[in-house]
Amino acid sequence: MGKIALIGAAGQIGTPLSLLCKASDLFDEISLYDIVHVPGIATDLMHIDTKAKVSGYLPDNGGLKKALAGADIVVVTAGIARKPGMTRDDLFKTNASIIRDIFSEIASTCPNAISCVVTNPVNSTVPVAAETLEKAGVFEPRRLFGVTTLDVVRASTFAAHALGGNIEPKQLRVPVIGGHSGATILPLYSQAQPVVHLSDEQLALVINRVQFGGDEIVKSKQGAGSATTCMAYAGFRFVKALMSAQSGQSVTEEAYVYLPGIPGGDKLAVELGVDYFAVKVQIGTKGATKVLPIGDLSGNEKKLLEAALCELKTNIATGVSFMRV
Ligand code: LMR
Repeated sequence: MGKIALIGAAGQIGTPLSLLCKASDLFDEISLYDIVHVPGIATDLMHIDTKAKVSGYLPDNGGLKKALAGADIVVVTAGIARKPGMTRDDLFKTNASIIRDIFSEIASTCPNAISCVVTNPVNSTVPVAAETLEKAGVFEPRRLFGVTTLDVVRASTFAAHALGGNIEPKQLRVPVIGGHSGATILPLYSQAQPVVHLSDEQLALVINRVQFGGDEIVKSKQGAGSATTCMAYAGFRFVKALMSAQSGQSVTEEAYVYLPGIPGGDKLAVELGVDYFAVKVQIGTKGATKVLPIGDLSGNEKKLLEAALCELKTNIATGVSFMRV
């Protein structure tokens, strides 16, 4: 129970996410914020027979502050999406300042909320969010997550496809570590449960498909944007995990976090040479409680990890330096 604030709710991820939240009956209150349309979306959602009260706020008259006030969970999907020919990094110029401004308001209005960043490029926007909170003196790494759940969803879905439908995607558990773009996305099929039997060639194709799954959608939408409904699905899966944790259940999910601020993360940050990394975390009532070890990697995964770290370091530096100039 409690309040969730969806920032960017008129977008093509935000709106289906708001529907999933309203339909779930997990919340007492849902607030929607965007630069257009959200009062109407809120009215529309209020015709659904679940208990959550939905309100929509536009930027005028302190709308962002009102949307965030009292929020237990904030999900940020605001910002522009990719078009063909663009990488997620190309979005940084526009989305970095959007994230900075939203997190400045989070810092002053609901610093104790758990914040989830969906806005791309996640590898860089999460450092922008963290630096903004840090500047305001309220950064608590346990409460800030970059949402990488779509990579986890794709890792099991695409392997199930490759296995010819002999297994339900949801029966497969594949850890995905690293970041949320291209080579930084590292699905660990050597740790899949149950064991995945694919040839080296099939495995290479599946790994590539997970790493570049976003591009598959951008291409298929032919200029109309990038992943929206599957991202809303994945974002909601992460929100559900947070809500289960709040109700006292033991929950683990992968997310992109600031390692040094979470128990178990300091050592991993030193080992990997990066402060931000997507990894399986244990989640409790107040956010991440523990970073879980990444476990044994195959020879190929070790090579892919090197490539992931190389790109990730640049992405992190981009986010951090945006805030430190
Ligand atoms: C995705 O993984 O599909 C999203 O991050 C959207 C994108 O730009 O690829």
